[in-house]
Amino acid sequence: MTSLRAVVLGAAAGGGLPQWNCGCTNCMAARRGEIPAQTQSSVAVSANGADWVVLNASPDIGRQLVMAPVLHPTGPRNVPLRAVVLTNGDIDHVAGLLTLREKQAFTLWMTHGIADVIAANPIFDALDRELVVRRAIALGEAFEPAPGLAARLFAVPGKVPLYLEGSEETLVTDLEGEQTVGVEIAAGGRRACYIPGCARMTLGLRARLEGADLVFFDGTLWRDDEMIRLGLGKKTGARMGHLSMDGENGSIAAFRDLRVGRKVFVHMNNSNPVLDPRSAERRMAEAAGWTVGHDGMEIAI
Ligand code: MLT
Ligand code: MN
Ligand code: ZN
Repeated sequence: MTSLRAVVLGAAAGGGLPQWNCGCTNCMAARRGEIPAQTQSSVAVSANGADWVVLNASPDIGRQLVMAPVLHPTGPRNVPLRAVVLTNGDIDHVAGLLTLREKQAFTLWMTHGIADVIAANPIFDALDRELVVRRAIALGEAFEPAPGLAARLFAVPGKVPLYLEGSEETLVTDLEGEQTVGVEIAAGGRRACYIPGCARMTLGLRARLEGADLVFFDGTLWRDDEMIRLGLGKKTGARMGHLSMDGENGSIAAFRDLRVGRKVFVHMNNSNPVLDPRSAERRMAEAAGWTVGHDGMEIAI
């Protein structure tokens, strides 16, 4: 019996695949239709198949909601979307809120820290506060974003959004606090965790992940210096607050001795070779028990 359904609305990191200004191998292959294009970072979850929560509002949410039949309107102004949960204030996770401004009621769940970031930006007042109720919650506090879903937010090592980087203090890339969180969702005895951004594995995180039936995890880069090597940027994954897949300290190694039902990578940067189904890296990730997420992928547990 299915207790929880999850649909990957967007499997790519910020920029998507292809990214408008990128001529890397993957982006070119996606433009030619040789590998599947992927939209930006978002997952939808439901306990009953009728009421859904969307984890992160990607800039591509308009198209994502068209592509996901489970989220289509069921009446003139009736939609299955009950809530949006934010895991940080990054543009790839909040810009889609502006697309949801059409006088439709839903609840926006986030930490106090992320709520402050949203509140500080008046453009989000385009969302009618009477209809889009903002709910700031403490880490660890239980909430029910859609019927039958028992959710909690938990701190994950990460950093403040790129557009808020400034002082020394904001440059700490693996801070554990309210600016970057994961979401734990339980339903009918099943438990899933969604962590699209994570700077490093911690003992606390390991304890939380142990025994989970499903984990969506940060798959931004294959290797830490990937963007530099490909001539796409100056930053390492660590500097961006992301743990890479490969290597001794990578996510594949970190999960090796964890007991997790299904491990799915999400939030892949377009430079990540695993986005090419024909790549050796895709085979290596799969051999290690991982699924590389893709747009439209549905998982029931
Ligand atoms: C990230 O995941 O590191 C951010 O989304 C980067 C960005 O803001 O483009
Ligand atoms: Mn991102
Ligand atoms: Zn690219």
